[in-house]
Amino acid sequence: MNLELIRAVAHMREFVAGARLQGRTIGCVPTMGALHAGHGALMDRARSECGSVVATIFVNPIQFDRPDDYERYARTLDADLVYSEARGVDVVFAPSAAEMYPEPSATFVEVPELARHLCGEFRPGHFRGVATVVAKLFNIIQPDAAYFGEKDAQQLAIIEQMARDLNFPVRIVPVPTVREPDGLALSSRNQRLTPEERRVAPALFQALSRARELIAAGERNPQVVKRVAADLLSRQAAMRLEYLEIVDPRSMQPVDRISGPVRVAAAVWLGTTRLIDNVIAQAS
Ligand code: PAF
Repeated sequence: MNLELIRAVAHMREFVAGARLQGRTIGCVPTMGALHAGHGALMDRARSECGSVVATIFVNPIQFDRPDDYERYARTLDADLVYSEARGVDVVFAPSAAEMYPEPSATFVEVPELARHLCGEFRPGHFRGVATVVAKLFNIIQPDAAYFGEKDAQQLAIIEQMARDLNFPVRIVPVPTVREPDGLALSSRNQRLTPEERRVAPALFQALSRARELIAAGERNPQVVKRVAADLLSRQAAMRLEYLEIVDPRSMQPVDRISGPVRVAAAVWLGTTRLIDNVIAQAS
């Protein structure tokens, strides 16, 4: 295997110093593992732009609002290493929780305004955990560029803001959502769906697409768009809507009127699995 697996922060720093001495740029792809083609798209983009590609695989305990979700999160390191190597990754950084959070660990990063709505409203502490671990990864790996999927649009907005505010010298690169042929956004959580839940799951993207069509056709009232999309979702008895919101793509605040580009974002539950998705919609 050409790919190097690094577990220790000190060892990761040595790799970074070596790459810098050789004049190589570093691209970072932060993940929690259970890799799929969505992560593959991030890795491909990093590979095409950077001299060295570091993927991180760390199921970050402090971003889970429910202990059962943390316990159940798929951990597939062996398969992930094979996948990463096939996508041209040079290093997988997979630290233990103790390595990332040596006791006592008491510093957190928060971007409260951007975390106020959408997932932030329903997952207390989630984005604080995400911003904290990403800030730590940026400090350890010091990447020139870091790659994040647009499926997690609120996470992406928070990380962009954090990188600006804290002067991280890193380019944040958004990568479009990768979808199944029926529209379902790829997610590590999809593998938890039962066959019946999997059949119903594309309704989420269909509802968001309908919202996008309405906006493109000239609807300016977010309440009307939300009602139509929520009605579509309510036809799926197995699906429970957590939120459906239309927000400004940069501030992540709900809009009163649709006048420029907006993000339509939703979270639903199918059984015990929570799915999120979003689309950009443009007022014509
Ligand atoms: O999107 C994810 O997989 C995680 O939230 C991230 C960015 C790797 C931080 O743990």
